[in-house]
Amino acid sequence: MASGKLVALALMALLGCVAGYAGYPNPGTPSSPPPSPAAPAPPSPTPPPRAPVLKIGHYRKTCYKAEQIVRDAVKKAVYANRGIGAGLIRLFFHDCFVRGCDASVLLDPTSANAQPEKLGIPNFPSLRGFEVIDAAKAALEKACPGIVSCADIVAFAGRDASVILSNGKVNFNMPSGRYDGRVSIANETLFNLPPPFATLQLLKDMFASKGLSTDEMVTLSGAHTVGISHCSSFSDRLPANASDPSSMDAKLAKSVQRQCNKTGDPTVVQDVVSPSFLDKQYYQNVLKRKVLFNSDAALQSPETINEVRLNARISGRWEKKFKAAMVKMGSIEVKSSATGEIRKQCRFVN
Ligand code: HEM
Ligand SMILES: *[C@@H]1O[C@H](CO)[C@@H](O)[C@H](O)[C@H]1NC(C)=O
Ligand SMILES: *[C@@H]1O[C@H](CO)[C@@H](O)[C@H](O)[C@H]1NC(C)=O
Ligand SMILES: *[C@@H]1O[C@H](CO)[C@@H](O)[C@H](O)[C@H]1NC(C)=O
Repeated sequence: MASGKLVALALMALLGCVAGYAGYPNPGTPSSPPPSPAAPAPPSPTPPPRAPVLKIGHYRKTCYKAEQIVRDAVKKAVYANRGIGAGLIRLFFHDCFVRGCDASVLLDPTSANAQPEKLGIPNFPSLRGFEVIDAAKAALEKACPGIVSCADIVAFAGRDASVILSNGKVNFNMPSGRYDGRVSIANETLFNLPPPFATLQLLKDMFASKGLSTDEMVTLSGAHTVGISHCSSFSDRLPANASDPSSMDAKLAKSVQRQCNKTGDPTVVQDVVSPSFLDKQYYQNVLKRKVLFNSDAALQSPETINEVRLNARISGRWEKKFKAAMVKMGSIEVKSSATGEIRKQCRFVN
């Protein structure tokens, strides 16, 4: 069952990558300029709508309590279950990487759209925290109806969860002013979200296609210092192979194999040392091969190992980089009033 899901994931991701890369720069050289066209392009009659400039305190005048209201909803949920905080950080990532940070990940299936993003393989059934967004939105609609976008709620919630899970060490301003999208397609999750079996090259390419550097990829992967994973997401790495340097640490492999030896795709914690604290422990785990995914182990590659070592060693370094990278991730393909809306309910388009 578990390995069946993984094979399906592998196949679909492969298919998806072919389709997904068609519109992107050459994956081998993601930062190279596009080839110049043979003939100059004709002037476009309607210029594409400009992306909004996000700013800190966007709702200061229109809904001055907006960020406080989201923070209260996040606090309530995370104090009851810190795992929800991990879910909210991941929700922000999964929103931003598919059609930009536009809350497309929140849309429920309807008769008009039976397969939205949230039913995509990387999201279902593992993605969590939706109820926190609903609670925040309900409170916001009471305080200032029709003002605060669901996309901004997801971004604030990802930030607030980071603050709480790091005991205040990852504390930063999140610019806002995003609009909500109207389109959400399950199979787009496969070629936009990196799979757990990704190689370094695939990770680099997939982050580059979102305007994020290899360094930012290494930094954002540090979020795997909190939360859980289903066994099906890493069963390809079990049992460990002691003679393969990219393999999982033998002791960790034994432990997770035991925890996974149950029916129904159980979950295990990602960071065995400090599972519910957002800290730099992830990088120490990478160095010790105590990580679950191939995408985590891939950071031991010569190109990224130095960054991993610095993050592991220097206190405060990763936290600082993570704040900036979260803000940058929050600017991916954001929508404006011309290309989006302010939803009344986060699970449905207006
Ligand atoms: C670098 C490529 C990445 C890959 C391949 C990846 C893959 C995964 C997978 C497979 C899971 C476990 C899902 C499950 O089976 O339950 C997971 C969990 C998680 N990921 Fe990532 N991820 C990546 C990057 C990120 C980024 C950039 C963030 C946020 C900044 C993030 C945050 C999380 C969190 C917090 C969890 C735990 C969620 C929970 O406990 O509900 N990941 N990731
Ligand atoms: C992706 O989903 C859309 C809409 O549900 C569908 O029209 C399209 O054929 C799907 N593409 C692939 C490659 O499965
Ligand atoms: C273990 O890893 C080594 C080195 O990468 C490889 O040659 C060998 O085939 C692997 N063994 C298994 C059982 O996968
Ligand atoms: C899995 O559980 C079964 C039955 O409880 C047991 O016989 C088997 O040794 C276990 N396998 C591992 C790898 O722990």
